[in-house]
Amino acid sequence: MVAFISKSQSFWRKLSEYSQKNFNCLKRDPRLFLMRKMARIEVVRNLMVNLTKPPSQSYAVSLDNPSIFKDINVDKAVSALKNDGCYLGLNLPQDIIQEFRQFYQSRDWHVNQDKNLVFSYSDLEKISDKNAKKFRFANPYHPGICPPLEKLKTDPVLLAIAAKYLGTTPKCVGSSLRWSFPVSATLFEQLKSAQVFHCDLDDYRAIKFFFYLTDVDLSSGPHACIRGTHKNKKLLHQFLGERCASIEDQKLIDDYGMHNVMSICGAEGFGFVEDVLCFHKGTLPTAKERWFLQIEFAINEYRGLRNC
Ligand SMILES: [Fe+2]
Repeated sequence: MVAFISKSQSFWRKLSEYSQKNFNCLKRDPRLFLMRKMARIEVVRNLMVNLTKPPSQSYAVSLDNPSIFKDINVDKAVSALKNDGCYLGLNLPQDIIQEFRQFYQSRDWHVNQDKNLVFSYSDLEKISDKNAKKFRFANPYHPGICPPLEKLKTDPVLLAIAAKYLGTTPKCVGSSLRWSFPVSATLFEQLKSAQVFHCDLDDYRAIKFFFYLTDVDLSSGPHACIRGTHKNKKLLHQFLGERCASIEDQKLIDDYGMHNVMSICGAEGFGFVEDVLCFHKGTLPTAKERWFLQIEFAINEYRGLRNC
């Protein structure tokens, strides 16, 4: 009887949280609310993408408009995105990696998104080991304009890939850098930190460019994805949308095939691009730290995308 009452309370609490989240989303931006409901269904999503306006300009690399990426075949990258949901092989040059390092090493960082845990880079580097159990990740705290990041946001190769895949003029809708520490974490903590397989409903079509700013091997929490799951998802998973995060990783692997699971390792500067509808996660670092940069492009911008 006690178990029944507790289960029933848990159901009503979850329903109340879900309704509140939907109401907040509707209040902030009705277009965002509508997209979150519609974009999860593949046929609707494709229809909306086909209705978008084509790009208003071309993003060709030229002497006047150079790219920091050399020898990237945009068509090949877009074809891999269409087929697999991801493309690997964008490498940051060493001078840009150094620019990022210098910029972020002169900034303050906040830990676990807690405003009471703000440290300079050097202090955080010294104390993170001693607090290994408590410090899961850190982000730059009000970093201001980061020059190498601005270069990436306007790089003609990244914009050309985004424009061709999105089928319209791409909008940069977010960017972030995360410093992850090797810790143990509960399943709930991993769920809250995007460390279980999930997909993001950020627009009818959206992609993220990811770059490692440290060497990443299997012990430093490589990004992982299930190739091809940006399309042809099972109907149940389409209806669940972002709530697929509550499905066990192993169940999703069984459904889509172990042979499609990719753990993406690479040296500092290694980069890749992914359709955010592909099931993906940042795995938990077990022995080494990781710096991970992401830049997202989408068809539309929404108010409060990160908050609801
Ligand atoms: Fe994600």
